[in-house]
Formats: sequence, C-alpha cells, structure tokens
Amino acid sequence: MTLDLDRLRAETPGVANRIHLNNAGAGLMPAPVIAAIKDHIDLEAAIGGYEAEEREAARLEGVYDSIARLIGARRDEIALTQNATVAWDSAFYALGFAPGDRILTARAEYAANYIAYLQVAKRTGAVIEVIPDDGDGVLDPAALEAMIDARVKLVSITWIPTNGGLLNPAAEVGRVARAHGIPYLLDACQAVGQFPIDVAALGCDMLAATGRKFLRGPRATGFLYVRRATLAGLEPPMLDLFGATWTGPETYALRDDARRFETWENNTATRLGLGVAADYAMAIGLETIQARAFALADALRAALREIPGLTVHDLGKRPCAIVSFAVAGIESEAIEAALRARRVNVSTSSRAGTLLDATARGLPVVVRASPHYYNTEDEIAEAADLVAKIASGRAG
Ligand SMILES: Cc1ncc(COP(=O)(O)O)c(C=O)c1O
Repeated sequence: MTLDLDRLRAETPGVANRIHLNNAGAGLMPAPVIAAIKDHIDLEAAIGGYEAEEREAARLEGVYDSIARLIGARRDEIALTQNATVAWDSAFYALGFAPGDRILTARAEYAANYIAYLQVAKRTGAVIEVIPDDGDGVLDPAALEAMIDARVKLVSITWIPTNGGLLNPAAEVGRVARAHGIPYLLDACQAVGQFPIDVAALGCDMLAATGRKFLRGPRATGFLYVRRATLAGLEPPMLDLFGATWTGPETYALRDDARRFETWENNTATRLGLGVAADYAMAIGLETIQARAFALADALRAALREIPGLTVHDLGKRPCAIVSFAVAGIESEAIEAALRARRVNVSTSSRAGTLLDATARGLPVVVRASPHYYNTEDEIAEAADLVAKIASGRAG
C-alpha cells in the first residue's frame, strides 16, 4: 500500500509548526482524532456528560473492536485504561508470587516495571532475574530457554525499551513461554502504532500499551490485553463496582471479560479519540507505516553517524523508529533544548529510565529522536543538519 503523504500531513496540524521527532514521547494527533475528542466535549457541554455517553454508546463500544482488530485479539480480551502503566500494573499485580518464585525479565526493562518487580520481590520473596542478551545487545531467546525451570512464574519483557531503537524478539520469547506454560506479560508501549501486532503470533498472555505514542492517540489513554484463557485465573489488584458486582453482603462477582481491569469513571472523549487513532493507523496500514517510519529512522541514523563526536546508541541489527544518540562534551538536555528552540522536537532518556541497560553500557543521558511515517526526508535532513551545527558549536 502506498501512502498519501500530502493528505496525511494536511491532516496533521502540528507539522505546520514543528519538525516533530518525538513520537516515542507523544505522536502528533491527526485531525480525525482531534475532531472525535472535541466533538464529544462539545456534546457533553450541550446535553450533559452521562447523556453524551449514552448517545455515543455504540461508538464507545466500537473502541474495543478497534483495539482488538489492531492487535488481533477478541473484544472481550481488551480493557481500556488511562495509560500503559496502569494497564501493565493491573496485570502484573494480579499475579501471585511465593518465596523463590522467579520473574524473568530483559536487561532493557522499563523503570516503572522494574520498580514493580522490586516491590513484589520485597513483599513476597520472589526473585528477579535478567535474561542475557546476544552479541548485538538483543534479548537472547536461547538464553531464556536455558533459564526455565519449575520456579519460573513469569516472563515479562519490554518489546522496545524507552531509551532507544532496540527491538526485542517478543514472538520468540512467547514461543519459549508458551512451550513451558509460563505466563508472559509484554510491554508493547512503544511498539503499538509502529508496526503490525498480532497477539496470537506473539504468544503473550497479557500485553500493555499506550495510546499517545506511535498510535497518535490522545494522552492518558492506554489498553490492556488479557488472553481469554488467562483471564479466568486473574483477579485485578483493585476492584470497583464496574469490574465486579456486589452480589450479597459477603460476596461479589467479577466481570467475565477483561473489563474487570477497568473502573467505572472514564474520559469518554479521549476513549473515542483512541478508537479513531487505531482505525486511522489500520486504514493507512501498519506494514506501510513500519516501512516508512523505519526508513526515516535509518536515514536519520546514517546522517547522525557522520557527525564528529556523536555516538548512535541503538542496539540490534534491525532497530526500529527510535534513534538514540549522545554527543561527547554536550549534555543531551542541552541538545534537546537547542533543537526545541529551532522548532525540532526530540526528547531525552535518563539513565534511571532503563537503569540496568544504562549501567551495563555506561550510557549517558541520551537524546531520543523518533520519526514517524508523516515526517519527510527533508525534515530528517534538516534535523540532522541542526544536530551537526549544535555538535560543532556552530548553531548560533
Ligand atoms: C517502554 C515503556 N513502557 C511503559 C511506558 C509507560 O507508558 P505510560 O506513560 O502510558 O504509562 C513507557 C513510557 O514512556 C515506556 O517507554
């Protein structure tokens, strides 16, 4: 499928103001997403919040279908949440651990997830172990296989870490977990919207993602997928009268779908925006999105590698659309600020965001530039040129 760049850019108001290379922070929302949110707020103002929700009930239900289609799931396997962290935490904290139980994770694990492992390890006596990487810094599925024994109670990894372009082999990890019947939780926060996702091919039991990054949805949206067969044994760590029904003075009954992980009150406007964002990505085609976003990132990496004193830090033979780098002698935050002053949006990743990886590789704070399919080749060249000027002290 070819992509109509002119139309896609015309539908992205932000491109008139910025070279936006911060899609791993928050992608620019396209016009249909913005309209869905604004229209619903207008409707709430006009007729009332509950009444607007009732009027849009069918479209709100449709959001579950959209997310399910996006990842190859069933609609009853999806819970909508206010971000990826809540989605991930509600799945993780629903699992039970005993002293000596092993949690296997990746070296480039995201800080929020690792902090949760540490807390649960402190409370239960479970232990956290890091799966070794291969020679390219990519999680090694053969090393995972060699670690498996009866005490492994969870395999939980980040597919694309917060601090760079590494793509961990999520489906190969799934094959190992499935073969041994071990629950598999996948942080797909930075993957969703970047390329096709199929939970059956991944073999994951639970998957958490956000709406605002490469999916180009609104901020404070996310979702959790829980495989139907896994759901039966999972009681959310936090319940309310939506996730469960109060059936008697001493009893309650859980919902029988993944929405047991939701609570009653939600932002209906942004939920509608999330559904439109998923439909928008699927209408373009996730393969098409991937091909262009990866190619733009490759072009940026190639241009940056020409700059004296600059090191590109992305791991793996086939990195994704996140480009991480640092320049000797210049703070990454200063590079971010200098680019921002020239209307180029990037972000930085702190060492504490991926502490084990940053420590093992001796990483400084890195600049994170994350193009998407709606960026142009000229924007990439202009951004790289600006970085070259900043690096050489010629930025003025
Ligand atoms: C790998 C990874 N996982 C999870 C999250 C958390 O997502 P959210 O901010 O939607 O909770 C992030 C956010 O940057 C992330 O990079």
